[in-house]
Amino acid sequence: MFVGDSLSLNQWQSLACLLVSGVPTARYNLTRQDMISTFTFTDYGVRVMIDRSVYLVDVVRRRFGRVLDLDSITGGRLWRGMDMLIFNTWHWWGRRGPTQPWDFIRIGNVTLKDMNRMVAFERALGTWGHWLDTNINPSKTKVFFQGISPSHYNGSDWNEPGAINCLRQTQPVIGYNYPGPMPEAMTVVKRALSKIKTPVTLLDVTQLSLLRKDAHPSIYGLFSMDCSHWCLPGVPDVWNQILYNYIL
Ligand SMILES: *[C@@H]1O[C@H](CO)[C@@H](O)[C@H](O)[C@H]1NC(C)=O
Ligand SMILES: *[C@@H]1O[C@H](CO)[C@@H](O)[C@H](O)[C@H]1NC(C)=O
Repeated sequence: MFVGDSLSLNQWQSLACLLVSGVPTARYNLTRQDMISTFTFTDYGVRVMIDRSVYLVDVVRRRFGRVLDLDSITGGRLWRGMDMLIFNTWHWWGRRGPTQPWDFIRIGNVTLKDMNRMVAFERALGTWGHWLDTNINPSKTKVFFQGISPSHYNGSDWNEPGAINCLRQTQPVIGYNYPGPMPEAMTVVKRALSKIKTPVTLLDVTQLSLLRKDAHPSIYGLFSMDCSHWCLPGVPDVWNQILYNYIL
């Protein structure tokens, strides 16, 4: 089961496509219930699921508004009993304005209008880590964290200062070194993972995906210029190949 935002959806779809193309004669069906979509290979008893949960921690409705609760993770009841869990969260932590899906943040005993998003992100990863340590039996469930999937909205990062997005990018950055900085969230993720007792494998997709400024939907995005998600096949296929090597 993948758990996370639309980048998880990207990887889940890629995995379903890889499996179907690997066993083209296998029967499958796709079902959806609430936020969980399930791709079932009926001949094999294999289910590949995704639970869309953009923050992992809860967003709850209160009389005074929607609260992003950094210390509560009741959504986790849906994640129990899986053979494998692949988590991801990051892209929604920076949202502001009309697409921010909460009005307040609760942390400890205070409810705030807003706070430092990086601090909030780290707190939520702590809550998630605590959930893993109290709910996961490592001999039954393998746990992965998908890592930070990078976007390409600043050409200065790849030595093309005029570029404000990934439009007309047809080549990856050549070589192994990305000129721009690593996303700061990566530091937070690594620190948070180091505090969790349950074994969690980081799918360290950031560096290799940074190089692929050419691999986004760009103007073919669903709603607008999209330099955050990835075309299929492409980058998420490689993430799945890395995942495959870990579970083999
Ligand atoms: C809120 O929590 C902080 C830190 O745990 C504590 O110092 C403070 O006294 C608490 N405030 C209230 C009103 O409970
Ligand atoms: C792009 O990156 C450069 C170099 O890090 C920085 O100076 C600039 O402010 C960034 N531009 C935007 C629009 O964020």
